[in-house]
Amino acid sequence: MAKKKSILDLHKMKKTGEKAIWVTAYDFPMASFAEQAGIDMILVGDSLGMVTLGYDGTVPVTMEDCIMHCKAVRRGAPNTFIIGDMPFGSYQVTAGDAVANAVRFLKEANCDAIKLEGGVRVADKIRAISDAGIVVFGHIGLTPQSSGQLGGFKAQGLFVDSAREVIKDAIAVQEAGALAILLEGIPPELTEFIAKKLYGIGAGEPCDGQVLVCGDLLGMFQNFTPKFAKKYCNLAEIITNAFKEYIDEARSGAFPSDAHVYHAKDSKEAFEVMFKEFK
Ligand code: KIV
Repeated sequence: MAKKKSILDLHKMKKTGEKAIWVTAYDFPMASFAEQAGIDMILVGDSLGMVTLGYDGTVPVTMEDCIMHCKAVRRGAPNTFIIGDMPFGSYQVTAGDAVANAVRFLKEANCDAIKLEGGVRVADKIRAISDAGIVVFGHIGLTPQSSGQLGGFKAQGLFVDSAREVIKDAIAVQEAGALAILLEGIPPELTEFIAKKLYGIGAGEPCDGQVLVCGDLLGMFQNFTPKFAKKYCNLAEIITNAFKEYIDEARSGAFPSDAHVYHAKDSKEAFEVMFKEFK
Protein backbone atom coordinates (compact mmCIF):
# COMPACT_ATOMS: atom_id res chain seq x y z
CA MET A 1 0.00 0.00 0.00
CA ALA A 2 1.28 3.47 -0.94
CA LYS A 3 2.36 5.78 1.90
CA LYS A 4 -0.02 8.62 2.74
CA LYS A 5 1.14 11.84 1.04
CA SER A 6 2.16 14.82 3.12
CA ILE A 7 2.67 18.46 2.18
CA LEU A 8 6.39 17.68 1.88
CA ASP A 9 5.53 15.24 -0.92
CA LEU A 10 3.48 17.96 -2.59
CA HIS A 11 6.45 20.36 -2.50
CA LYS A 12 8.70 17.62 -3.91
CA MET A 13 6.20 16.81 -6.66
CA LYS A 14 5.99 20.48 -7.66
CA LYS A 15 9.80 20.58 -7.93
CA THR A 16 10.10 17.42 -9.99
CA GLY A 17 7.04 18.15 -12.14
CA GLU A 18 5.13 15.07 -10.93
CA LYS A 19 1.40 15.82 -10.98
CA ALA A 20 -0.72 15.41 -7.85
CA ILE A 21 -3.96 13.67 -8.70
CA TRP A 22 -7.07 14.33 -6.66
CA VAL A 23 -10.60 13.04 -6.91
CA THR A 24 -13.66 13.89 -4.88
CA ALA A 25 -15.35 11.24 -2.78
CA TYR A 26 -18.17 11.51 -0.28
CA ASP A 27 -18.64 8.04 1.17
CA PHE A 28 -16.90 4.89 2.37
CA PRO A 29 -17.02 2.78 -0.82
CA MET A 30 -15.93 5.55 -3.20
CA ALA A 31 -13.08 6.54 -0.86
CA SER A 32 -11.84 2.96 -0.59
CA PHE A 33 -11.95 2.51 -4.40
CA ALA A 34 -9.98 5.75 -4.83
CA GLU A 35 -7.38 4.67 -2.27
CA GLN A 36 -7.05 1.21 -3.84
CA ALA A 37 -6.54 2.87 -7.24
CA GLY A 38 -3.64 4.89 -5.83
CA ILE A 39 -5.08 8.42 -5.80
CA ASP A 40 -2.82 11.05 -4.22
CA MET A 41 -5.50 13.09 -2.44
CA ILE A 42 -9.23 12.95 -1.83
CA LEU A 43 -11.31 16.11 -1.66
CA VAL A 44 -14.58 15.73 0.21
CA GLY A 45 -16.00 18.53 -1.88
CA ASP A 46 -19.19 20.41 -1.10
CA SER A 47 -20.13 19.17 -4.60
CA LEU A 48 -21.57 16.38 -2.45
CA GLY A 49 -24.63 18.63 -2.30
CA MET A 50 -25.26 18.07 -6.00
CA VAL A 51 -23.71 14.65 -6.55
CA THR A 52 -25.07 12.79 -3.51
CA LEU A 53 -27.73 14.96 -1.84
CA GLY A 54 -29.62 16.07 -4.95
CA TYR A 55 -29.46 19.85 -4.41
CA ASP A 56 -29.26 22.24 -7.39
CA GLY A 57 -26.01 23.72 -6.09
CA THR A 58 -23.56 23.63 -3.19
CA VAL A 59 -25.02 26.49 -1.12
CA PRO A 60 -27.41 24.37 1.01
CA VAL A 61 -24.62 22.05 2.21
CA THR A 62 -24.03 22.36 5.97
CA MET A 63 -21.09 21.80 8.29
CA GLU A 64 -22.85 18.71 9.66
CA ASP A 65 -23.18 17.27 6.11
CA CYS A 66 -19.48 17.89 5.45
CA ILE A 67 -18.27 16.42 8.74
CA MET A 68 -20.41 13.30 8.35
CA HIS A 69 -19.19 12.68 4.78
CA CYS A 70 -15.55 13.40 5.73
CA LYS A 71 -15.79 10.80 8.52
CA ALA A 72 -17.10 8.18 6.08
CA VAL A 73 -14.35 9.00 3.58
CA ARG A 74 -11.66 8.74 6.26
CA ARG A 75 -12.99 5.27 7.22
CA GLY A 76 -12.78 4.25 3.55
CA ALA A 77 -9.36 5.77 2.89
CA PRO A 78 -7.29 5.60 6.08
CA ASN A 79 -4.01 6.06 4.19
CA THR A 80 -4.89 8.96 1.90
CA PHE A 81 -4.45 12.72 2.34
CA ILE A 82 -8.00 14.05 2.79
CA ILE A 83 -9.13 17.63 2.26
CA GLY A 84 -12.41 18.76 3.80
CA ASP A 85 -14.30 21.45 1.90
CA MET A 86 -15.67 24.27 4.04
CA PRO A 87 -19.33 24.80 3.09
CA PHE A 88 -20.93 28.16 2.33
CA GLY A 89 -21.58 30.02 5.59
CA SER A 90 -18.87 28.27 7.58
CA TYR A 91 -16.22 30.94 6.90
CA GLN A 92 -18.41 33.92 5.96
CA VAL A 93 -18.38 34.59 9.72
CA THR A 94 -15.82 36.01 12.15
CA ALA A 95 -12.25 34.77 11.74
CA GLY A 96 -12.59 33.03 15.13
CA ASP A 97 -15.69 31.13 14.05
CA ALA A 98 -14.07 30.24 10.70
CA VAL A 99 -11.11 28.76 12.62
CA ALA A 100 -13.47 26.86 14.93
CA ASN A 101 -15.26 25.36 11.91
CA ALA A 102 -11.97 24.47 10.21
CA VAL A 103 -10.74 22.78 13.40
CA ARG A 104 -13.80 20.47 13.34
CA PHE A 105 -12.60 18.93 10.05
CA LEU A 106 -9.35 17.87 11.71
CA LYS A 107 -10.59 16.94 15.18
CA GLU A 108 -13.88 15.21 14.33
CA ALA A 109 -13.20 13.81 10.85
CA ASN A 110 -9.43 13.36 10.92
CA CYS A 111 -8.95 15.39 7.72
CA ASP A 112 -5.46 16.55 6.76
CA ALA A 113 -6.42 19.96 5.38
CA ILE A 114 -9.34 22.19 4.48
CA LYS A 115 -10.28 24.06 1.32
CA LEU A 116 -12.34 27.21 0.98
CA GLU A 117 -13.52 29.31 -1.93
CA GLY A 118 -12.66 32.92 -2.71
CA GLY A 119 -9.71 35.26 -3.15
CA VAL A 120 -9.05 38.73 -1.83
CA ARG A 121 -12.25 38.84 0.20
CA VAL A 122 -11.54 35.68 2.24
CA ALA A 123 -7.79 36.22 2.64
CA ASP A 124 -8.22 37.18 6.32
CA LYS A 125 -9.98 33.85 7.02
CA ILE A 126 -7.25 31.90 5.21
CA ARG A 127 -4.64 33.72 7.29
CA ALA A 128 -6.48 32.96 10.57
CA ILE A 129 -6.98 29.27 9.73
CA SER A 130 -3.40 28.86 8.53
CA ASP A 131 -2.11 30.63 11.66
CA ALA A 132 -4.04 28.06 13.69
CA GLY A 133 -1.73 25.41 12.18
CA ILE A 134 -4.13 24.03 9.58
CA VAL A 135 -3.14 23.31 5.98
CA VAL A 136 -5.36 25.43 3.74
CA PHE A 137 -6.11 25.03 0.04
CA GLY A 138 -7.64 28.01 -1.79
CA HIS A 139 -10.16 27.79 -4.62
CA ILE A 140 -10.57 30.61 -7.13
CA GLY A 141 -11.92 31.21 -10.63
CA LEU A 142 -15.27 29.50 -10.95
CA THR A 143 -16.38 29.35 -7.33
CA PRO A 144 -19.69 27.44 -7.21
CA GLN A 145 -20.68 28.84 -3.79
CA SER A 146 -20.85 32.31 -5.34
CA SER A 147 -22.38 31.17 -8.63
CA GLY A 148 -25.26 33.57 -7.92
CA GLN A 149 -22.87 36.53 -8.17
CA LEU A 150 -21.10 34.98 -11.18
CA GLY A 151 -24.41 34.60 -13.03
CA GLY A 152 -24.22 30.78 -12.93
CA PHE A 153 -21.51 28.14 -13.21
CA LYS A 154 -19.47 30.26 -15.63
CA ALA A 155 -15.80 30.05 -16.66
CA GLN A 156 -13.77 32.99 -15.31
CA GLY A 157 -10.76 35.00 -16.54
CA LEU A 158 -11.54 34.63 -20.24
CA PHE A 159 -10.91 38.36 -20.79
CA VAL A 160 -7.98 40.47 -19.60
CA ASP A 161 -10.01 42.44 -17.05
CA SER A 162 -11.46 39.41 -15.31
CA ALA A 163 -8.13 37.52 -15.65
CA ARG A 164 -6.46 40.34 -13.71
CA GLU A 165 -8.96 39.82 -10.87
CA VAL A 166 -8.24 36.08 -10.84
CA ILE A 167 -4.49 36.79 -10.57
CA LYS A 168 -5.12 39.23 -7.69
CA ASP A 169 -7.16 36.55 -5.96
CA ALA A 170 -4.41 33.97 -6.48
CA ILE A 171 -1.78 36.27 -4.99
CA ALA A 172 -3.98 37.18 -2.00
CA VAL A 173 -4.72 33.53 -1.26
CA GLN A 174 -1.08 32.54 -1.47
CA GLU A 175 0.13 35.49 0.62
CA ALA A 176 -2.50 34.61 3.25
CA GLY A 177 -0.81 31.24 3.72
CA ALA A 178 -2.65 28.77 1.45
CA LEU A 179 -0.51 25.80 0.45
CA ALA A 180 -2.02 25.51 -3.02
CA ILE A 181 -4.89 26.84 -5.04
CA LEU A 182 -7.58 24.96 -6.87
CA LEU A 183 -8.13 26.87 -10.10
CA GLU A 184 -11.57 26.05 -11.45
CA GLY A 185 -12.89 26.98 -14.88
CA ILE A 186 -10.17 29.36 -16.05
CA PRO A 187 -8.33 29.25 -19.41
CA PRO A 188 -5.00 27.38 -19.64
CA GLU A 189 -3.31 30.62 -20.80
CA LEU A 190 -4.07 32.10 -17.37
CA THR A 191 -3.40 28.86 -15.51
CA GLU A 192 0.10 28.71 -16.94
CA PHE A 193 0.90 32.19 -15.63
CA ILE A 194 -0.53 31.47 -12.16
CA ALA A 195 0.89 27.95 -11.83
CA LYS A 196 4.42 29.16 -12.60
CA LYS A 197 4.27 31.33 -9.52
CA LEU A 198 1.95 29.28 -7.30
CA TYR A 199 0.75 25.74 -6.84
CA GLY A 200 -2.31 25.33 -9.02
CA ILE A 201 -4.58 22.36 -9.52
CA GLY A 202 -7.53 21.62 -11.75
CA ALA A 203 -7.53 24.05 -14.67
CA GLY A 204 -5.89 22.56 -17.73
CA GLU A 205 -2.59 20.87 -18.43
CA PRO A 206 -0.28 23.64 -17.09
CA CYS A 207 -1.46 22.83 -13.54
CA ASP A 208 0.62 21.02 -10.92
CA GLY A 209 -2.17 18.52 -10.49
CA GLN A 210 -5.67 17.60 -11.53
CA VAL A 211 -8.95 17.10 -9.75
CA LEU A 212 -12.21 15.63 -10.96
CA VAL A 213 -15.56 15.26 -9.25
CA CYS A 214 -16.20 11.51 -8.93
CA GLY A 215 -19.79 11.94 -10.13
CA ASP A 216 -18.49 13.40 -13.42
CA LEU A 217 -15.55 11.02 -13.83
CA LEU A 218 -17.73 7.95 -13.25
CA GLY A 219 -20.75 9.19 -15.19
CA MET A 220 -23.01 9.10 -12.13
CA PHE A 221 -24.10 12.73 -12.11
CA GLN A 222 -26.62 13.10 -14.94
CA ASN A 223 -27.78 16.74 -14.66
CA PHE A 224 -24.80 18.08 -16.63
CA THR A 225 -21.09 17.44 -17.26
CA PRO A 226 -18.91 20.56 -17.25
CA LYS A 227 -16.58 21.03 -20.24
CA PHE A 228 -13.51 20.57 -18.01
CA ALA A 229 -14.67 17.16 -16.78
CA LYS A 230 -14.05 13.87 -18.56
CA LYS A 231 -16.37 10.87 -18.18
CA TYR A 232 -14.25 7.71 -17.83
CA CYS A 233 -17.25 5.40 -17.62
CA ASN A 234 -21.02 5.55 -17.50
CA LEU A 235 -21.92 4.18 -14.08
CA ALA A 236 -25.42 5.66 -14.29
CA GLU A 237 -26.14 3.38 -17.25
CA ILE A 238 -24.43 0.36 -15.69
CA ILE A 239 -26.31 0.79 -12.39
CA THR A 240 -29.69 1.49 -14.01
CA ASN A 241 -29.31 -1.59 -16.22
CA ALA A 242 -28.38 -3.73 -13.21
CA PHE A 243 -31.48 -2.48 -11.34
CA LYS A 244 -33.65 -3.23 -14.40
CA GLU A 245 -32.25 -6.75 -14.71
CA TYR A 246 -32.86 -7.38 -11.00
CA ILE A 247 -36.46 -6.09 -11.23
CA ASP A 248 -37.14 -8.32 -14.26
CA GLU A 249 -35.59 -11.41 -12.69
CA ALA A 250 -37.30 -10.89 -9.32
CA ARG A 251 -40.65 -10.41 -11.07
CA SER A 252 -40.22 -13.50 -13.23
CA GLY A 253 -38.88 -15.62 -10.35
CA ALA A 254 -35.49 -16.15 -11.98
CA PHE A 255 -34.04 -14.54 -8.85
CA PRO A 256 -33.38 -15.92 -6.30
CA SER A 257 -32.09 -19.17 -7.74
CA ASP A 258 -30.93 -22.12 -5.67
CA ALA A 259 -27.47 -20.53 -5.49
CA HIS A 260 -28.85 -17.58 -3.51
CA VAL A 261 -30.74 -19.35 -0.69
CA TYR A 262 -29.68 -20.95 2.60
CA HIS A 263 -30.92 -24.55 2.74
CA ALA A 264 -32.02 -26.06 6.05
CA LYS A 265 -29.45 -28.32 7.70
CA ASP A 266 -31.94 -30.57 9.50
CA SER A 267 -33.90 -33.16 7.52
CA LYS A 268 -37.20 -32.44 5.79
CA GLU A 269 -38.85 -34.95 8.15
CA ALA A 270 -37.50 -33.13 11.22
CA PHE A 271 -38.95 -29.86 9.89
CA GLU A 272 -42.33 -31.50 9.21
CA VAL A 273 -42.48 -32.76 12.80
CA MET A 274 -41.70 -29.23 14.03
CA PHE A 275 -44.32 -27.65 11.72
CA LYS A 276 -46.98 -29.87 13.33
CA GLU A 277 -46.43 -28.00 16.62
CA PHE A 278 -48.18 -25.03 14.98
CA LYS A 279 -51.20 -26.84 13.54
O1 KIV B 1 -16.57 20.78 -4.22
C1 KIV B 1 -15.88 20.29 -5.11
O2 KIV B 1 -16.01 19.12 -5.47
C2 KIV B 1 -14.91 21.13 -5.78
C3 KIV B 1 -14.51 20.72 -7.17
C4 KIV B 1 -14.28 21.87 -8.06
C5 KIV B 1 -13.33 19.85 -7.20
O3 KIV B 1 -14.47 22.08 -5.23
